[in-house]
Amino acid sequence: MRKKIVAGNWKMNTTLKDGMELAQAVEKLEKEKTSDALVIIAPPYTHLSKVNELIDDVKLSAQNCASEALGAFTGDISPEMLLSTGAEYVIIGHSERRSIYNEDNELLNKKMKLALSTGLKPIFCCGELLEEREAGKLFDVIREQLAVGLKDITIDEMGKVVIAYEPVWAIGTGVVASPDQAQEMHKFIRDLLIDLFSEQVAEDMTILYGGSCKPSNAAELFANPDVDGGLIGGAALKAEDFLAIVNAY
Ligand code: PGA
Repeated sequence: MRKKIVAGNWKMNTTLKDGMELAQAVEKLEKEKTSDALVIIAPPYTHLSKVNELIDDVKLSAQNCASEALGAFTGDISPEMLLSTGAEYVIIGHSERRSIYNEDNELLNKKMKLALSTGLKPIFCCGELLEEREAGKLFDVIREQLAVGLKDITIDEMGKVVIAYEPVWAIGTGVVASPDQAQEMHKFIRDLLIDLFSEQVAEDMTILYGGSCKPSNAAELFANPDVDGGLIGGAALKAEDFLAIVNAY
């Protein structure tokens, strides 16, 4: 049985004080949750160690990490530093990192390998642009993102990876993928994992959907056989909405 996960990506939102309050509220509601999904929150770097003191059942993720282990990289944060704050997961390859910071598949592969060798569990994001979908290139784009992004990762290490499919046109737009569109791509990703790794890796992989997921549409997305949870942006900034998504499972 693969793990069900609902993860909240706070992006560049909340002051430290607001973030601590939000984390406490999420932890409290998590204790009353009615689903068996694992709940993860990804606050900004500056909040990680404080937030870690406030959560227990809720797990901690960072939103990004450096591609180098240590040294003269002003402003960057290494996987080992993240681990030392109590973070267990790290989001790698979010579309905002790809588009705003020009992070390409090769760089993301470097981050994936470093994060895994350090002991973090990566939540690896993939997703196509609207133009790519409209041009019929969506499967080629996802294949390339996974084949290069997950290159040289061992079958054992893949047991620590979570994949998030986030169509870029659905992120923060209010336009959610239909349940059929999500299922179609999640199935494609799972089949691709058989080619790239093994049947077992594919069967065990938790594949999250992300992009305008809300309490009102979560249940029909999560009802798909290959959708194993969600990566939530905007709706993760309100504990009640976030937990309503968790409880939609
Ligand atoms: P959204 O963001 O839920 O606000 O669309 C999802 C994400 O970027 O992970």
